[in-house]
Amino acid sequence: MEINRITTFLEPEWTQYQTLFSTAVASPFSFVTQVNSHLTSSRGKQIRPMLSLLSAKVFGAPTQLTAVVAAVVEMVHTATLLHDDVADQSDTRRGALTVQKLYSPLASVLLGDFWLARAFKLLIDHGGESLLCRYAHAIGEMSEGELFQMEKARHRNTTMEEYHQIITKKTAMLMASCMATGAKSAGATDAQCTLIEQIGLCIGVAFQIRDDILDYAPQTQTGKPGGKDLLEGKMTLPLLCALEQAPAHERQIALEWIQALNSDPQLVVKITDFVKRYRGLHLAQEAVEEKIREAKAMLQHAPDNEARQHLMEVVDYLSGRNV
Ligand code: IPE
Ligand code: IPE
Ligand code: MG
Ligand code: MG
Repeated sequence: MEINRITTFLEPEWTQYQTLFSTAVASPFSFVTQVNSHLTSSRGKQIRPMLSLLSAKVFGAPTQLTAVVAAVVEMVHTATLLHDDVADQSDTRRGALTVQKLYSPLASVLLGDFWLARAFKLLIDHGGESLLCRYAHAIGEMSEGELFQMEKARHRNTTMEEYHQIITKKTAMLMASCMATGAKSAGATDAQCTLIEQIGLCIGVAFQIRDDILDYAPQTQTGKPGGKDLLEGKMTLPLLCALEQAPAHERQIALEWIQALNSDPQLVVKITDFVKRYRGLHLAQEAVEEKIREAKAMLQHAPDNEARQHLMEVVDYLSGRNV
C-alpha cells in the first residue's frame, strides 16, 4: 500500500504505538498467548492509528499519550472485529482463518472483551482518563449500530436513512473518536477537536460505504469473504441505490428476491445483477467520493502543514481502496 510510507513521517510515535499495541495484551496464560499470536500474525491496514497520529501532528506536537491513543484505537478496533466475525459468522479475515472459526465463537467474544479491557487499562495507566469517556461512547454507539443492523437484516427492510445511521454508529464514530483524541493528546483546542471529529465522521462513512462496495466485488483482495452482506440480509448502499433507480415493478421483484434469500441463496446472483444493472455500485462510489470531498473541504480549515498534506493523501487513498 502506497500510504505505508507515511509511517516514516509518523516516527518515532509509530514505533512506540506498535510496541504498546503488542505488549498491552500480554498474558501469562498460554491459550491467550496462542490465540493472540494467531490474531496478530496477519496485521490489518492500521488506518485508525495512522489517522490518530496524523491528527495529532496537524494540530500540535505528539506526546507519549498520542502513541497510547493510537494503540488504544487499534486495540478497540481489533476487539470489535473479534466480535463482528462472530456476529457475521465470518471464516476469514486478513487472509487468515478468524478466531471464531479456528478456535470457537466464545473464544472470539472473550478475547474481544480482553482486548477492550486492556485498551482501557492502557489509556488509564498513561493518564488518559479524560479521553476514556469518548471511547466508552464510541463503543456504545458501535454496539447499538451493530444490533440495529442485525434487527434490520432480519426484517430486510433497511431504508436509506437507517443505513446511514447504522454506518455512522458502527464505523464512523470510532474513526471520529480516534482523530479527536489524537488531536487532543497533542494539545488541540476544543474547536480543533470538533473540526477533526466532523472530518472523522465523513471519512468513516466513506470508509464503510467503500467496504460495502468491496463486498460486491467478485474477486477482492480484502482477505475476507465477499458476497456475505446480501446473504446476511444486510441491505447496503449499492442495493439501496439500485432499488431507488429501478422502475416500480422491477423493484418489487428485487424486494421479493431479498425476502426469499434464506430459502434460496442462489438468488444472490440475481440480486447482484440487479444492483449492477441499476448502477448501484457506481452510485455508491459517487457517495464515497462526495463524503471524501466534504472531508477534504473541512480539512482546509486546519493548519496548513506536512501532516495535513499526508492526511489528505490518506483520505484520497480511502476513496479507492481495494483492501
Ligand atoms: C474493517 O476495518 C471493518 C470495517 C469498519 C469495515 P478495516 O478495513 O480497517 O480492517 P483492517 O484492520 O484493515 O483489517
Ligand atoms: C463493520 O462492518 C464492522 C465493524 C464496525 C466492527 P462489516 O461487517 O462490513 O465489516 P467486515 O466487512 O466484516 O470487515
Ligand atoms: Mg463483518
Ligand atoms: Mg464488510
